Parts: sequence; C-alpha cells; structure tokens
Amino acid sequence: MKLRQKGTAVTHHDIIPATPAEALRTDRGEGPVLLFAPNVLQAMARRFQDGFDGLVTYAVKANDAEDVITNLSSAGIRAFDVASPAEMAAVRRIVPDAVLHYNNPVRTVREIEAGMAAGVASWAVDSQAEFAKIAARVPAEGTEIAVRFKLPVPGAAYDFGEKFGATPQEAGELLRAVAAAGFIPAMTFHPGTQCPDGAAWAAYIEAAARIADAAGVRLARLNVGGGFPARRMDADAAALEAIFDTIGASLHAAFATPPALVCEPGRAMVAECQALLSRVKAVRASGAVFLDDGVYGGLAEHLVMGVSDRIRVLDPAGRPRSGAPVPRTVFGPSCDSLDRLPGDVPLPADTAEGDAVIFLGMGAYGLVTSTRFNGYGALRQLTVHDLTM
Ligand SMILES: Cc1ncc(COP(=O)(O)O)c(C=O)c1O
Repeated sequence: MKLRQKGTAVTHHDIIPATPAEALRTDRGEGPVLLFAPNVLQAMARRFQDGFDGLVTYAVKANDAEDVITNLSSAGIRAFDVASPAEMAAVRRIVPDAVLHYNNPVRTVREIEAGMAAGVASWAVDSQAEFAKIAARVPAEGTEIAVRFKLPVPGAAYDFGEKFGATPQEAGELLRAVAAAGFIPAMTFHPGTQCPDGAAWAAYIEAAARIADAAGVRLARLNVGGGFPARRMDADAAALEAIFDTIGASLHAAFATPPALVCEPGRAMVAECQALLSRVKAVRASGAVFLDDGVYGGLAEHLVMGVSDRIRVLDPAGRPRSGAPVPRTVFGPSCDSLDRLPGDVPLPADTAEGDAVIFLGMGAYGLVTSTRFNGYGALRQLTVHDLTM
C-alpha cells in the first residue's frame, strides 16, 4: 500500500494499492472491478498536451467517470467534447469553468437550448437543416460552428462516415452559410476510432484546405477529431507522436495561413488508465471459462474490436498463472448464449475457478457501455498506483 502522493493524482482514496496484484489480495468486494491508475491518465493527458500543437479536448463519451474528469482537469485539460446535455452537466459539475464543444451533429431543439444554457462554445454541424436549427436560436457573435465532413478514407477499426459528415461539396456550401451568418467558421472530421495511420489525418487536412479555399472562407480552427489509437496488442506501441507530427506537417503544407488546431481524443486518452479485473466463476471440462463479466458488461467492445492479447491471469493470492496458453471459449455471467467473447481466447492451462482475469487497456468504452442485463454488469472502481504487470 502507498499513501497518495499529493499533487500527483486526485482520487477519493487516501491509501491505495500499489499494483493490481495487491488490489486483488486486499479486495473483499463481489463482482468485476475497474482498476484505475490516475497517474497513468495524467501522464497521457500531458503526452497529448506536449505533443499535439493545438487545443486538446477530451471526448467525454469514452469514459465519464468522475475520477477521470477530475484527473484530466488536474492535468490541465479544460475543454471537453460533449455529446449530450447529460454529458454537459456531468462536466460542469466537476469543472465549472470548462469549455464545452457540442460535437454531436444531430440535436433536438431542446438539446440546442440545453447547450445554450450550458454555454457551449463550439457546435459541429453536418447539414443545412441542423445548421438552420442552431442559427435560429444561438447568437452568432463569439460562437464557433465547425462543419463536419467525411471522406472515404480507410484505416480505422470502424468508420463513422456512414452516420455523420457532409460530403466535400455540401461542406463548402455549409461553410459559406456559417460565415455569412456571422459565426466563427471552423471545420471538423473524425477519421474513425482506433485509426493507427497518420495518412488518414493528412488526407482530411488536405481536403479541409481545398474545401475552405473553394468556399472562400478562412478557417479560424480545424478540429482533427478523435480516432487516435490505443495500444491493442502486447506487441504494439501506439505511435501518437508520429501522428501528431503528420498532422502538423500536413497542416502547414495544406494551408497558406494555418488555422488553429483542436483534437478530441476519447479512446487514446483513457484506454491505458483502467484495467478490468474479472474473476473465473467456473472452468468446464471442455476448458471453457465462465467469467463474472462479459459482453453485456465491461467487455462489450470486444464484439466490434475483437479480443486483445493484453490479458493476465493471477491466482487468488495475486501470483501470475504460468501454464502454457490454451485457446478457450470465454463466456460472460448472463444466461444468454451470445454473452461470449469472440473467437478463442488464449488463457494459461492452469487457469482455475477463483482466479482473476485482468484485461489491460480497458479505460475506453467499457464502463459507459455496460448494461445491467441479467443483474450483472455493475463495475466497481478501485484506484491503484500502477497497472504494469
Ligand atoms: C465527435 C467525436 N469526437 C471524438 C470522439 C472520440 O473518438 P475516439 O474515442 O476514437 O478518440 C468521437 C467518438 O465517437 C466522436 O463522435
């Protein structure tokens, strides 16, 4: 156990376990636990702020836990990408002077009114109809509107272009309308989540410059979205700095007068700061393993992202299991047969009932998407100093 070091991390606990193994030995609670390392989160926030040449905002949708927002704010993040009035309220409660960017491009009139009441500074739009709804209600002076556009650029784990984004031609028309109405003109895009290749950002930045130039509008800002990759496999290292460099170089190559940059990472900001500790409820004679969490809980994203190999198995005393990896079917706790991790998951041959199965890099889109199906899926949170294992 370590005493909290003042100024390095903000947490609700004064004495916190040093490692996941120590947390396992001391935890007397029931059910799966998210192990949260504030130091890791603050280090990632600093990595973005040091490496990205613009305003770093955080996409709250990836993880809206109070400790996450608090620690990001302590690490200097003051602007947040919010998708709904509930996210605005959650951020304002914790960071009263936060700058809010409301970048969900489809909103009801009530949601627009909530955004105004919350003092939203920047709004993304991708159609004339949505722009008209905002323009009729939000005073133009001092308000930024970012036109979101899409390109057929591959590379991400999944693409958002089917749902959001104007075509380049529509984006040019929208940009002219935004500028003519007196709003601060900006553009934005999202290359798709878990995008490992800077070339996607380069293609979007070049297109943004072409669109703005053809529309005759000088952009105040260019928001290059989220999509930055998290570490998926043990063998990977997320090459964030290479992407930051590509973004900077593309901006200066594409624009004679470069707009200010904004980014809004979700996944890459929070993935590493949490690990999911679940326990083995049963091992069947077939080798299949039943866990106390599954795809209706904190492991929901495995269905679309696939299984990572960043899994560690510890015995109840916190010692690593050392058996050779055996491919296994892994089921979650509910009575639903769909509650199963995709494919075969390699777990040690000596994995036994009561063991802890720890999934690393689980801070993004786990807590926020977990359901209470069959009465499972409630994730407790324990703060630890370190998640390396
Ligand atoms: C507008 C917007 N910004 C940022 C993000 C965060 O993306 P990521 O988690 O891939 O960084 C999303 C994800 O849905 C989004 O829709």
